[in-house]
Amino acid sequence: MNIIKAKDYQDMSRKAANIISAQIIMKPDCVLGLATGSTPVGIYRQLIDGYQKGDLDFSKVATVNLDEYRGLKHTDPQSYYYFMRENLFKHVNLREDATFVPDGTNEDAGEACAKHEETIHSLGGIDLQLLGLGNNGHIGFNEPGAAFEKETHCVDLTKSTIEANSRFFTSIDEVPTQAYTMGIRTIMQARKILVVVNGEGKAEIVARAFWGPVTPEVPASILQMHPDVTVVADEAALSKAPM
Ligand code: GLP
Repeated sequence: MNIIKAKDYQDMSRKAANIISAQIIMKPDCVLGLATGSTPVGIYRQLIDGYQKGDLDFSKVATVNLDEYRGLKHTDPQSYYYFMRENLFKHVNLREDATFVPDGTNEDAGEACAKHEETIHSLGGIDLQLLGLGNNGHIGFNEPGAAFEKETHCVDLTKSTIEANSRFFTSIDEVPTQAYTMGIRTIMQARKILVVVNGEGKAEIVARAFWGPVTPEVPASILQMHPDVTVVADEAALSKAPM
């Protein structure tokens, strides 16, 4: 694992955006795996900036997202589809038919998940997968205890994730209890993985995930077994890491 220490959130965002930019420049028709949550927002701003300056061209890029809440419409401001449109897609020259988020509006979980998995395969796999880190070590929505061999599937969110994500909703009762997520197996098949983490609140889980034993209890710990992982974390998030 390549661990890059950043000064703060801004520095983390810039460093991670540079890695993604290099991927797009080196392979203009690359497949990017994208993530939601508050951590990647600064990265997306940097990528938009790169596009506006004429340094980045997304016209041949395809994107696939990690996860989506089950049951939320694309027009719902809490859906990850909406998040991606507002925070990245509508600001750059990505083709609309080249952006793929699991279809949370499809009530048929098996079909929605199989379709997402098929999309990834038909694109030739993911070149670079961006990941945030959940407070309990989840990646995508693969919660503690998730089987490492799963592909895209429907999950029940844990109480702690529902509580953590309730900050984006008016009340905790509005947080969906299920989501469609790429599985650990899907994530591990990406050719490169870029994990971003910031803040003291994640310091303990960062130490457990990247320096602790590999265990389904800390889903992100499996990333230690991937041949090409870069973690960009700020000083606060690395404050409990033995480095
Ligand atoms: C959500 C997403 C994850 C994300 C995590 C952390 O649960 N499904 O993909 O990494 O939250 O979010 P944040 O970056 O806001 O801490």
